[in-house]
Amino acid sequence: MDTYETLKERRSIRRYKDKEVPKAVLKKCINAARLSPSAANLQPLRFITIRRDLSDIFECTAWAGYLDWEPTEEEMPRAYIAILKEKETGWEMDAGIAAQSICLTAKNEGLGSCILGAIDKEGLKDLLSIPEGFELKLLVGMGYPDEKSEVIEDSEDVEYYYEDDVLKVPKKPLDEVWIEHG
Ligand SMILES: Cc1cc2nc3c(=O)[nH]c(=O)nc-3n(C[C@H](O)[C@H](O)[C@H](O)COP(=O)(O)O)c2cc1C
Repeated sequence: MDTYETLKERRSIRRYKDKEVPKAVLKKCINAARLSPSAANLQPLRFITIRRDLSDIFECTAWAGYLDWEPTEEEMPRAYIAILKEKETGWEMDAGIAAQSICLTAKNEGLGSCILGAIDKEGLKDLLSIPEGFELKLLVGMGYPDEKSEVIEDSEDVEYYYEDDVLKVPKKPLDEVWIEHG
């Protein structure tokens, strides 16, 4: 898929099928993250892939803060990528950029994903044996999508919602976010 199309089509997915995520896809995602922009090219990030003990990881996550809803264990992601950053080195932004690279690569491979920042970092630290000198920044949950999500244009609101089992995600209008300077 064309990069712009992939960007437009990617949505956060919070319900997944019970289907294993191939290791080759995770490898591709990590490679995309590895090749992403990095402030001063310091490359402070490391990536842990997780395909086993998924329920334990799922317990350390929180979903869809605007909704009185969260996915069941049956719907949980079938893989995670934990994004770690070397303490004292590099910029925080690198983690977000890497997360987006992972999500877009996953999308191109037919997978859904969701960046997860509302995570129990202490719990995950124990489960993931994070190497000395590194801190956990983000998790990306992924798997084969078991839901549809679509953009709502020109909405006044920012809160997403389910309607007829489809997740509707409001995005601000282009005119509002684009400030032309000359
Ligand atoms: C840094 C960051 C942290 C996020 N953390 C969570 C999270 O903990 N749980 C969750 O369900 N979604 C999380 N999201 C997903 C956002 O809710 C989602 O990107 C937003 O609602 C827009 O939807 P879209 O990704 O489909 O465009 C996070 C997104 C970002 C960028």
